[in-house]
Amino acid sequence: MNVSNLLFGLLACALSAAPLTALAEAPIVIKFSHVVANDTPKGLAAEFFAKRAGELTKGKVKVEVYGNSTLYKDKEELEALQLGAVQMLAPSLAKFGPLGVKEFEVFDLPYIFDNYADLHKVTQGAIGAGLLKKLEPKGVTGLAFWDNGFKSFSANTPILVPEDLKGKKMRIQSSKVLEAQIRALKAIPQVMAFSEVYQALQTGVVDGTENPISNLFTQKFFEVQKHLALTEHGYLGYAVIVNKKFWDGLPADVRGQLETAMKETTVHANKIAKEQNDKDLEGVKKSGKTAIHVLTPEQRTAFKKALIPVHEEMASRIGKDLLQSVYKETGFDPSKL
Ligand code: LMR
Repeated sequence: MNVSNLLFGLLACALSAAPLTALAEAPIVIKFSHVVANDTPKGLAAEFFAKRAGELTKGKVKVEVYGNSTLYKDKEELEALQLGAVQMLAPSLAKFGPLGVKEFEVFDLPYIFDNYADLHKVTQGAIGAGLLKKLEPKGVTGLAFWDNGFKSFSANTPILVPEDLKGKKMRIQSSKVLEAQIRALKAIPQVMAFSEVYQALQTGVVDGTENPISNLFTQKFFEVQKHLALTEHGYLGYAVIVNKKFWDGLPADVRGQLETAMKETTVHANKIAKEQNDKDLEGVKKSGKTAIHVLTPEQRTAFKKALIPVHEEMASRIGKDLLQSVYKETGFDPSKL
C-alpha cells in the first residue's frame, strides 16, 4: 500500500468513525417542562435534579429544564409527555383528573392535611406509592411527590368569611374537587391554565384565585389582587412523572443513578418548600400591594364548616376506600371542626 492510499484509508476511517464516536458520547437528553417560575419550590427542585442527574451519571444524562410554561402549558404538557415530546414533568396533583386518574384529587380535598408531616405520611408512604402505580396504564411512570404548600384565597375585595367569596369568579386548576370546593362557597369556578392567570386577574376575567404564596409571589399575582386571606384551606404539590417507554428504555445503571438523584431531590425539595413559601410571604408583605388577612379561629372554623362537606360529596369520585385510608393514615376526622 502506498502512502497516499494509507492516508486516504486513515481519513476514511476517521470520517466514518467520527459520527459513531459522537453518537456514543452524546448524552441522553431529558427535557423537563414545568409551568412555574424558576425560583419556586418546583423550579428549584427541577434545577437540583438536573445538577445531580448530571453528576451521578457522569454526564451521560443531560436534564434540560424549561420553566414558566416556555415549552408547554398545563394540559399540553401532559399530552406532550405521553407523546414523548418531553420526558419529564411535575404537574400539580390537581391536574391528573383529565388524564383519567381521578384518585389524585384526594389531595385537593379542603383541610385534609393539617400540616406537611401528615401529608408526608401519605405522599412518602404506601398510599403515595399506590397512587403513582395508577399512572402506568397511561404510559406514565410516577417517580416522586414534591411539595409546594398550602393554598390561600386572594381577590380584590377582603376575604374573611366564606360569604366574602359568594358570586366571585375564581380561577382553579382542572380538578373536579376544586370545582366542588368553589361551588360550596357559592362562588363560580373557572378552570384556566396557570400561564393565563395573571392576565385574567388583571382584566377581571376572574375575580380571584387560590395558590400557595410562592406561586402568588413569583407570578406577581399580588400586583393584581388587593386582598390575600391566609386560609391555607388545601394543599398543592406535585407528582414527578416520566414517559414510561423512555424510562424503561434507559440502560439499567443510568436509570438507577437517576432514581438516586430523584430520591436526593425529593428530600431537598420537601425541605425548601416551606422556606420558599415563608420567604415569599415576606415578599408580598414588602410589596405593600396586597392586604394580608390572618383569620381568627372563628373565621377559620366558618371556612371549614363550609368546605368539609366537599369530602362526602366527592368521595365516590375519589374512591371511598382511598379516602378512608388517607383519613386513617393522617388521623383526619371530617366530623371534627
Ligand atoms: C396552578 O396551576 O395554579 C399550579 O398548579 C401551578 C403549579 O404548577 O404550581
